[in-house]
Amino acid sequence: MKIIIVQSYSEMSQEAADVVTSIIKANNRAVLGLATGSTPEGMYVELVKRFRNGLIDFQEVVSFNLDEYLNLPPDHRQSYHYYMKTKLFDHINIRPEKVNIPSGSAENPELECSRYDRKIIEAGGINLQILGIGSNGHIGFNEPADALSINTHLVELTPDTLQANSRFFESLEQVPKKAITMGMGSIMSAKKILLLASGTGKARAIKSMSDGIVTTAVPASLLQLHHDATVIIDSDAAALL
Ligand code: F6R
Repeated sequence: MKIIIVQSYSEMSQEAADVVTSIIKANNRAVLGLATGSTPEGMYVELVKRFRNGLIDFQEVVSFNLDEYLNLPPDHRQSYHYYMKTKLFDHINIRPEKVNIPSGSAENPELECSRYDRKIIEAGGINLQILGIGSNGHIGFNEPADALSINTHLVELTPDTLQANSRFFESLEQVPKKAITMGMGSIMSAKKILLLASGTGKARAIKSMSDGIVTTAVPASLLQLHHDATVIIDSDAAALL
């Protein structure tokens, strides 16, 4: 695991956008695994800027998002569908049929999970997986547990995650309690992984994901076993290293 410490959120976002840009320049049909949340927002702003300046072309790019809340319609302002549309997809030339996000409103969520895994395989797997990290060490919505799932699955969000994500909702009660998330297998199968983190709130998670121990209590620690995982963090998130 390669750890790059930068000075600020903005530097982290620029460097992350550099990685995405070079992956797409090397392969205009690249398959990207995308994350939502506060962390990658600056990277998306930068990618949109580069697209507008003609520096990057998303025409043939395929995307798979990590996760989506269960039972939140795609047009709900806190759904990850809405996030991706408003922060990235509406502003670039990615083709709608190449965009994949788990459907949280599927009639049969279990079938939706297996459909999603099949689509990732049919696309040839993920070339670059972007990740944030929860302050409890989750990646995607793979929460700390005795055992972690390999495939896309339904998950019950932990009280930590509900609390953290309540900042986007009017109240804690409104945060959906369940989500669909790509599993650890789909994440670890990505050819390249880029995890981003910023702020002191992530310092403890960053320390325990990189201290040479692999444990399902810190799902992100499994990334230490990946052959091409890079972590770009600001100095606040690196405070305990
Ligand atoms: C988002 C996701 C989550 C977030 C994590 C950090 O698609 O899968 O794992 O990356 O919860 O969220 P932020 O960036 O809001 O601190």
